[in-house]
Formats: sequence, C-alpha cells, structure tokens
Amino acid sequence: MIELPDVRGKISIENHPSMLPMSDTTERTATAFANPNIAFIKYWGNRDHELRIPASGSISMNLAGLETRTRVRFDSNLSADTLTLNGQPAAEAARARVARLLDRVREMAGTRARAEVVSANNFPTAAGIASSASAYAALALAASAAAGLALDEPALSRLARTGSGSACRSVPGGFVEWQAGTTHEDSYAFSIAPPDHWHLVDCVAVVSTRHKTTGSTHGHALAPTSPLQAARLEDAPRRLDICRQAILERDFEAFAEVVELDSNLMHAVMMTSSPRLLYWLPATLAVMRAVERWRAEGLSACYTIDAGPNVHVICLHEHHPEIVHRLKAIPGVEQVLTATPGGAARLLDEPAASNNPRSLQNLPGQYLRS
Ligand code: PMV
Repeated sequence: MIELPDVRGKISIENHPSMLPMSDTTERTATAFANPNIAFIKYWGNRDHELRIPASGSISMNLAGLETRTRVRFDSNLSADTLTLNGQPAAEAARARVARLLDRVREMAGTRARAEVVSANNFPTAAGIASSASAYAALALAASAAAGLALDEPALSRLARTGSGSACRSVPGGFVEWQAGTTHEDSYAFSIAPPDHWHLVDCVAVVSTRHKTTGSTHGHALAPTSPLQAARLEDAPRRLDICRQAILERDFEAFAEVVELDSNLMHAVMMTSSPRLLYWLPATLAVMRAVERWRAEGLSACYTIDAGPNVHVICLHEHHPEIVHRLKAIPGVEQVLTATPGGAARLLDEPAASNNPRSLQNLPGQYLRS
C-alpha cells in the first residue's frame, strides 16, 4: 500500500529570506521543488507559440512523489547562464531555453546578473513523465525568489508557462485547471480541488524509455495541420465542464469516459497532422485494451497518454494494487511507477551544506514505487 501524503504545499515566498531587493553586485540563491502533472483534458496546440498561450484550456493532477528540485544562484560575476541537469552540463538547446525564462525574470527584477541553475529529477527523464512541467515550475519559483521578486501564484504560473505550457499547471496544488485565456495576463492555472479531495492513483505503465522523436514544442505547432484539430477545439469547453464536474463530484464513471475520449482526440490529431505523429507502440495499445476490459469487469481505471508511448492508468486508490499487478503482467510493460495527487510548487529552505550543487544529485530515489 502506498500512503496518501498530505502534500498541500503552499507557495510562501512573501516570508522567504530571499525576498530582498537585488542589486547587480548581490549573489542570491533560492531552491524550489515542483511535481510534474498528468493532464486529464489535454493541451495540444497554441494560440501564441512565443508565449505558449494554448488553443484551449486543460485540466490536470499533480503527481506526488515525482519531483524536480532546482536551485538558482544569480551572480554578477558570471558571464553566462549555466545549467546542470541531473549532475551533467545540459545541452545548449536546453540551456538556451532556460536562459529565455531567466531573461524574463531579469527584466522583471531589473538586473543583468547571470545565473547558475542546478536541477535534478527523482524520476527517469525519459520515462514519459512530463519533466518539463516540473522543471519550469521549479525554475520559475526558484529564479523569481532568487531575484527578489514576490510573485503571487497566478504570476508564477504565467512565468512557468513561458518555459513549458504544462508547467503552469505544476505551480498550484492538487487538481488544477489552466484557463486558456488570450493574452499573457489571463492565461494561467489555478487549483480546483486540493490533493486530498480524491484519492486517485496514476499508475504509469512504462513501455519504452527511449527519448521521443518529436518534442511537444514542435508538436503544438503541427496541431493546426490536422483537419481534426478544429473539431477537437470546438468541443473542448464541453469536455472541460464534464471533467471539472466529475472531479468535483468524484464521479469516476463520467471522469473515465471523458479522460479517455480527450486522450483519443489528441492522439487522433497527432496521427493526422502533417507530418503525422504516431507515438504508440504495440504495448501501448495492449494496455489501452486491457484497461477497457478491466473497467467492464468493475475496476475503476481509465487510460490517458501524453506525447509518448507510455500509458498513465488512473484508478481509485483501493484498486491500484490490483491494477499495478495486472499491468506488470502485460508483455512489453517494463515497469510501473505510481503517484498520488501532489501539492503546489514550493520553496525549500536548504541547509548551508546544500549550497554544494552536488547535494541536488542525491535526491532520494524511493519515491518511485514499482
Ligand atoms: O508543456 P508541453 O509543451 O510539454 O506540452 C504538454 C503536452 C501534453 O503533455 C501532451 C498534454 C498536456 O496537457 O500535458
């Protein structure tokens, strides 16, 4: 049995020691923590690519136990931003993407100091869990706090969105809705229910840990090339209403129907875009079929799939041991990770010893239960 942790974290940057004005001669550090999230109603396609303003709203759940920790240190002696990911210097494309978010923070804080960013995940980066969501939520919080900005939750959510759209949903806690909006100001996420509202478990059936060939930034740009995207978007408000209501009423049957429909619609768009994106493997379909059968037998479980082949099987807490057991028996399922509803992004008060970047490499691995 896994415990349902009470991780209703709150962003408490007002009282954080880093909330002091920053001058270009100051060296300031902050460390933040965020969970990834799984979307029940998906984000696929942008209205504005630069600002990552989505073509429709989305709803997700944060994933407790899976986490990114990021430390940002602004230092006026640095000549460029640096990024260390899981103990290794990051590739230039990743560093440049992080630097763009730091540019926004520098602009807001009125500083030119460059930053050293050290980030680590406690889950396999290529396991099909959206690590960019937790990464940019933790980065937005750590960078803004280190720069002395006291951003409220919507402002942090907006900032995280500019790094990776889904990251805006990892800022608030529990069950979260991202209102699409049409401008930078009105496109942000907020909590619709706390983590302890509904004891769901996400059992991630990992069928491949290979890196995806087409990343989501490119994928969003392809969405309008599918003749199905317009119909998907037109129906999105209806699916959002059904999903929000099902969560609030803890109605698993209604929830399961709309979650699977929404995932299938997104993949139909992906498969019919130009060029087409086909993320599924044979084992992906085997899990989808099995979940359908199990639900017909009375187990409360449904599937949802992001931009990759791994299947997130969402189930009621009481059914999750049986679901995990059955998933492991499906040929092609390499491992099963489980996560319960997670809390909000938050700042960490690190002991002085952890000023050593190496401390971030020693994240406990026990969060991943298989
Ligand atoms: O935040 P991005 O650009 O990585 O896009 C996320 C896209 C999906 O994971 C497929 C769907 C979603 O809403 O999380």
